[in-house]
Amino acid sequence: MSRYFYISTMGCQMNEYDSDYLAQVLVNANYLPMDTPDNADIILINTCTVRAKAEQKALSLLGRMISLKRRKPDLVVGIAGCIAQQEGAHLIERFPELDLVLGTREIGNIEALLERLVSNREKIVATDIDLRPPSPICKDGYFRGRVKSYISIMEGCDNFCSYCIVPYVRGREVSRPPDEILRETQHLISQGVKEVTLLGQNVNSYVWRTGDTFNFPSLLRELSQLHGLARIRFTTSHPKDLSDDLISCFGELENLCPHIHLPLQAGSNKILDLMNRGYSREKYMELVLKLRQVRPDVAITSDVMVGFPQESHEDFELTLELIREIEFDSLYSFKYSDRKGTLAEKMVGKIPEAEKSSRLSQLQQLQKGITLKRNKRLEGRELEILVEGASKKGGQWTGRSTTNKIVNFTNNNCKLGEFVKVKIKRAFVNSLLGYI
Ligand code: 5AD
Ligand code: SF4
Repeated sequence: MSRYFYISTMGCQMNEYDSDYLAQVLVNANYLPMDTPDNADIILINTCTVRAKAEQKALSLLGRMISLKRRKPDLVVGIAGCIAQQEGAHLIERFPELDLVLGTREIGNIEALLERLVSNREKIVATDIDLRPPSPICKDGYFRGRVKSYISIMEGCDNFCSYCIVPYVRGREVSRPPDEILRETQHLISQGVKEVTLLGQNVNSYVWRTGDTFNFPSLLRELSQLHGLARIRFTTSHPKDLSDDLISCFGELENLCPHIHLPLQAGSNKILDLMNRGYSREKYMELVLKLRQVRPDVAITSDVMVGFPQESHEDFELTLELIREIEFDSLYSFKYSDRKGTLAEKMVGKIPEAEKSSRLSQLQQLQKGITLKRNKRLEGRELEILVEGASKKGGQWTGRSTTNKIVNFTNNNCKLGEFVKVKIKRAFVNSLLGYI
């Protein structure tokens, strides 16, 4: 009789990457994937805890899965990812039916844990944060049909920005060996993947063996040589570690996409200091200018937070001013949210929720205009698009430009994974519309 698994993935790309690892192990153990939890034998929820909202969403989903288990006691329910790492055994106290708490660095142990979970019906809490990321599985056929994929190159963060939970739940920085990364990339190319996004909490600190000279630009240069790899992207970069050498890669490597996600967080030096970000607004602006000098068409996107403790109206205005000056291609923006155990949680001068909401909508309104303005400049231009599939609207295809803009277009004769030249007819805030 066939056995089924269901994985729900929340949060960032690293979780998506980890979920693929878990799924490959389950497929190897003869489980079949399912898109819904109702008839699954194993349910895993891969969770995020970067903001309070993400945590609430994950725990409410877990609650629903636990109620499924009450009706079906043979079901195995597990929680993975950042909440699992943060809360550990507390989760079993709160949800006694839960079978597995799998911390972020324990992913590689899932194969060994499966037997204990399924046959012995043990309850397992695995949260060792000092383990190294596992070697890739590279299961033949698993990635077939995908045109783009993620590859983790490093994990963890040593920066301890004062608001951030990541260093606590993803551990210290560890880089993966370059030969493993190359092997994984080659495997993905053999399965039809044309574009990879290199992942890490801070890819700029990638280094193979401390003190070695094989750093992130070295890795990019090696990967860019791989035959069949049309596009390389990476995320996320910390501004304080963005070196001139890395910037020069944008001018040098043809398959490195002209897009960088460079989280700014705030435009006031006082707030940047309180956040422990290690750069000033002037330094950030200098990086933007250097990037645009090396690659004038580079798209720059960012993360910004409003309502950090002690953020005055003047501080907030400085953020808006910098956003106006830089003109990001797009921006993810968030209301500051207290995370347990971080330095910011204990800071004085918390901003009321209503004020945070008002600042957020003001900022989003500003950015909407900027994004539209930048997108409008592309009207009439021809962009190279990697075809990713049929668009939500009937009769249209969808894909992304090298600058990571979503482009929908009409054409009768398109193939998944193909590169096409699309002429942009109309620009919107979230996408572009064109034709071949
Ligand atoms: N509150 C709000 N936003 C946060 N981020 C990280 N921690 C918090 C927090 N405590 C945002 C940052 C980061 C993005 C992934 O999430 O902007 O870049
Ligand atoms: Fe969090 Fe800062 Fe590390 Fe990014 S660099 S993961 S914001 S601590």
